[in-house]
Amino acid sequence: MPNKVIIIDYGSQVTQLIARRIREAGVYSEIHACTVTADEVRAMHPQAIVLSGGPASVGEEDAPKLDAGLLELGVPVLGICYGMQVLTATLGGELAQSTTREYGPAELEILEQTPLWDTVPATSRVWMSHGDRVIKVPHGFKVTARTQTLDIAAMACEERRIYAVQFHPEVHHTEEGSKMLANFLFRVAGLEPDWTMSSFVERTVAEMKEKVGDKHVICALSGGIDSTVVAVLLNRAIGQNLHCIFVNNGLLRAGEVEEVKSLLGDTIGINLTVVDARSRFLDKLAGVEDPEKKRKIIGHTFIDIFDEEAKKITQVDYLAQGTLYPDVIESVSSKGPSAVIKSHHNVGGLPETMKLQLIEPLRELFKDEVRKVAKELGLPDSIVWRQPFPGPGLAIRVLGEVTEDRLQILRAADSIVQEELKASGWYRKVWQGFAVLLPLKTVGVMGDGRTYEHVIALRVVDSVDAMTADWSRLPHDLVAKISGRIINEVNGVNRVVYDVSSKPPSTIEWE
Ligand code: XMP
Repeated sequence: MPNKVIIIDYGSQVTQLIARRIREAGVYSEIHACTVTADEVRAMHPQAIVLSGGPASVGEEDAPKLDAGLLELGVPVLGICYGMQVLTATLGGELAQSTTREYGPAELEILEQTPLWDTVPATSRVWMSHGDRVIKVPHGFKVTARTQTLDIAAMACEERRIYAVQFHPEVHHTEEGSKMLANFLFRVAGLEPDWTMSSFVERTVAEMKEKVGDKHVICALSGGIDSTVVAVLLNRAIGQNLHCIFVNNGLLRAGEVEEVKSLLGDTIGINLTVVDARSRFLDKLAGVEDPEKKRKIIGHTFIDIFDEEAKKITQVDYLAQGTLYPDVIESVSSKGPSAVIKSHHNVGGLPETMKLQLIEPLRELFKDEVRKVAKELGLPDSIVWRQPFPGPGLAIRVLGEVTEDRLQILRAADSIVQEELKASGWYRKVWQGFAVLLPLKTVGVMGDGRTYEHVIALRVVDSVDAMTADWSRLPHDLVAKISGRIINEVNGVNRVVYDVSSKPPSTIEWE
């Protein structure tokens, strides 16, 4: 097993960033809710512990606490923001409460050298976000840095290897933050970087082989990166005992079915069944205009088909899914964990109806790590950098009734959007870019004649997690090129509009 750092989550918005920075430094890290006990953490055999920030005030009645036993495990501890305050309170230092928050950049001045500051300049910019502050460090600690507004911006007890900082080393605005975290891992805790994607692949393939043995696994492929990586990993582990199902629902983009068949089936040799269910989906969608009804019909039809296919395989025991780490982390409020675990919305409902055990080989990974694994597995850039695509496919981008004619128009327009985003280098810069076919026609003029044809909306957004998004400021020339090509090359379209709405209050998809 690789080295492991446990992050105790006190509810900060940026706790996930701590995990990512530590992993980027090459050390595996896991987030646990602040209600975890010292005994539970001991059983996880961590090599270091990080206490995250959080919105609470230590003096408040139900503010989350620190199990003092965590400081007796003999592993180094780094407290960040609230983590520093809760350490101070637990170890007998003093805090001052504040009604105002200090938020933003500050200049850190190092007062005492410690391994945490190794090769960090004497002054550097850090990012603050705190109300309360430490006014007296606990016994055995020394003040190691200050800022103009804060006399105690960092403290340390080198004998016990306990360090604390009031600022956030995990955010990019803290210039030397990554170095400080690396110093904590390598200088203080003496770890070696051993979390690499090739070690992940090796370990996961071995684990899957061991777990599945000679049993059979079924996996739904979507053409996206997550399910593709799951399938390729399992194919390495159990070969023909993996049964992949790719449902062609007729709502896919141009060329997608062929791409999946050729890459996963022919080149990689995955045991793949492509189900041609185009007419089944289209028949069920006939006459349906309501977005929610469309989504439900597509979801149910998918489950029915998947179920039918599974029954054709002699004995299936496991269902493989591409669940990622952010779906698994318990979300924590300042009052403790709320234990909300999101379900994977593409295949929601499958495990219950099919009574299969789940296999989720990516549940430790962040999205950027999945991309690295995909690269490690030798998958092409078209998969590694693929933008998200919704389960209900083009049906929620053909506004109003979904018919083959209208799908064809959208598919042709969408191909142009994809081509031009890729050719201009914008495909990787934006979160998603696609075309939407509107349920209306407008008047145009072509040659000497009047036209009355469809409108395509361009939707291109920037986002980090799809929870919020803003419309991408594409260069006007690029928008002009896409619009010109769509109107010239796609029969039945005489107008293109650009969607300039942010999320919220709009959503990324139109339906
Ligand atoms: P919205 O439209 O809610 O989309 O802002 C957020 C992100 O989720 C994708 N999306 C889906 N993905 N099944 C999926 O797998 C769905 O039913 C679905 N609906 C929306 C959307 O493309 C965007 O990335």
